[in-house]
Amino acid sequence: MRFDVVTLFPEMFAAVSEHGITRRARELGLWTMATWSPRDFTSDRHRTVDDRPFGGGPGMVLMAEPLAAAVSAAGAAQRWAGHATGTVVALSASGRRLTDARVRQWAKECGALTLVCGRYEGIDQRFLDALVDEEVSIGDFVLSGGEIAAMAVIDAVVRQLPGALKIESSAEESFATGLLDAPHFTRPERWRERPVPAALLSGHHAQIDRWRREQALAKTARERPDLIASARAAGRLDERDEKFLRDCAQGTGGTVPPALGNPSSAAAKTADNAA
Ligand SMILES: C[S@@+](CC[C@H](N)C(=O)[O-])C[C@H]1O[C@@H](n2cnc3c(N)ncnc32)[C@H](O)[C@@H]1O
Repeated sequence: MRFDVVTLFPEMFAAVSEHGITRRARELGLWTMATWSPRDFTSDRHRTVDDRPFGGGPGMVLMAEPLAAAVSAAGAAQRWAGHATGTVVALSASGRRLTDARVRQWAKECGALTLVCGRYEGIDQRFLDALVDEEVSIGDFVLSGGEIAAMAVIDAVVRQLPGALKIESSAEESFATGLLDAPHFTRPERWRERPVPAALLSGHHAQIDRWRREQALAKTARERPDLIASARAAGRLDERDEKFLRDCAQGTGGTVPPALGNPSSAAAKTADNAA
């Protein structure tokens, strides 16, 4: 897969190209990246890429033409490299919220993706209207620029490329099953008076799977009830799951494990901090 990133700060992208799973995947040839600075597509001697907003107001706005020229150069490079012109995505706080489903779709279907990073107050709307296929937000908060959001997209997409993960664990991660992930534990077996849940030490695979399923259900019901509703609508909850959720809601869910009992209890945290 190929990413073309339009950014004023190309050096930031070493964070994904040079570190961790994404670096390994790049070295395996699973993805490539090129960056395009809008400054290289200006015609004045100051290499101006921004100007004041029409109508007044604070801050500056990225001008359409340098961005358009950068996107056009990226598209030409994609075609030259044998790809179809990639989907053009602008990172934007006011875009559609990115989902796991969209990430997986890009990883599966897009040979190339062009990511446009905004800065300042944002991007001239005419560029967005003319050349951008989708505006994508990584959450309901405002970043100083689109670079961190673009890196989040690259990281999330790359880990879905076949061969990117040493262990193909992404099928069990949060969202993949329609639920949040179950909690994880490693050695030691007892840490600050907190034992590892007994089910995980049982060696009984069916029991461990059921425990993880119930943990995932309990956590999702508590943190993201909207996902429970979606999983239900998609027919992803069976009778046993529904009974477990009913028991949790009625407080009779004897199997709701202490690991999730009340992890954010202030008293417990204070005691830990004092230890
Ligand atoms: C300071 S922000 C502009 C915020 C904009 N005036 C607003 O209120 O929505 C500058 C750039 O950061 C990026 N950005 C900020 N928050 C983002 C988010 N939640 N998701 C994706 N990109 C974001 C966008 O590229 C945006 O153009």
